[in-house]
Amino acid sequence: MTYSRIIGTGSYLPERVVTNLELEQRIETSDEWIYSRTGIQARHVAAEGELTSDLAVKAAQAAMAAAGVTADEVDLIVLATTTPDMVFPSTACIVQAKLGVSNGAAFDIQAVCTGFIYALAIADKLVACGQHKCAIVIGAEVFSSILDWTDRRTCVLFGDGAGAVVLKQSDQPGILSSHLHSDGALNHILRVPGKISGGQIQGHPFVEMDGQSVFRVAVKSLAECAVEALEHNQLQAADVDWYVPHQANIRIINTLSEKVGVPRERVVVTLTRQGNTSAASVPLALDAAVRDGRVQPGQLVMLQGVGGGMTWGTVLLRW
Ligand code: UT7
Repeated sequence: MTYSRIIGTGSYLPERVVTNLELEQRIETSDEWIYSRTGIQARHVAAEGELTSDLAVKAAQAAMAAAGVTADEVDLIVLATTTPDMVFPSTACIVQAKLGVSNGAAFDIQAVCTGFIYALAIADKLVACGQHKCAIVIGAEVFSSILDWTDRRTCVLFGDGAGAVVLKQSDQPGILSSHLHSDGALNHILRVPGKISGGQIQGHPFVEMDGQSVFRVAVKSLAECAVEALEHNQLQAADVDWYVPHQANIRIINTLSEKVGVPRERVVVTLTRQGNTSAASVPLALDAAVRDGRVQPGQLVMLQGVGGGMTWGTVLLRW
């Protein structure tokens, strides 16, 4: 049996940091409200003209350096984003050109905050079976571009950033399983209901969210999906060395830690200084835990995403 294996990780955060205290000056909110309800203290925001592909390239280059892989070896780029540079071509194709990669395929995945999990699941299948030899999987967002910065219910929650991994085929696991889900009947609880048509913006081009419904779906779906993934591999919560859930709200993460049964000290949390970076949140958190030495060879890592769609999923892997 062959597998795909992550052989390097990387990430990038834009320079500018927007703290809760700065937001207090701009809208009717408070550091106390934001921190106590979400666990977020600050988020990074892209500079004017800094695009999703720019963030993605920096994260991919860091992952390639960690993996010791050059551009001519890469033959697949799968990029998850909700904030593409433009309508088309895909941001993955733009990243392919900026990285100097000219082999294989490049395409985008849209599953909002679950995007990286979907992208990793798809790349895993293409690499494990040998169709592609070396993949870069990226989650990248300039989420600040689709926020209404006067809407305190949403703008305080999100941030910009990118995370990436390099995947290669291996006869050792590797990615053990992926479980992907969606329930389109819930599309209305988290969305940007706008589009470009006839040269005009139609609808509302900013994030709208029924926060409490999303909160409930996130907890229920991820708790169930964790059990599904562990049972599929005949493993238990006690076997999980590192749990890397989507970084949306510390209260969701704490509830999941309890429900799933992975103690808080084994849960990777980066949202405090990054906010919710949508498709970038899981690879950003994974990269942090790999670089600071928490994740060690042979350990079991559980990655989970949940977001608009609603979509959710779990990837279980042996490091
Ligand atoms: O990546 C996608 C996944 N997204 C999520 O997972 C988000 C899930 N949802 C959440 O994290 C939480 O529901 C929120 C953090 C969005 C909201 O927390 P909440 O405890 O559900 O608060 P709420 O929406 O019930 O609002 C409570 C109060 C309201 O005031 P009233 O109606 O009680 O007078 C809001 O208007 O807090 C008010 N409020 C704020 N106050 C100060 C809402 N946003 C703010 C704010 N600052 N930024």
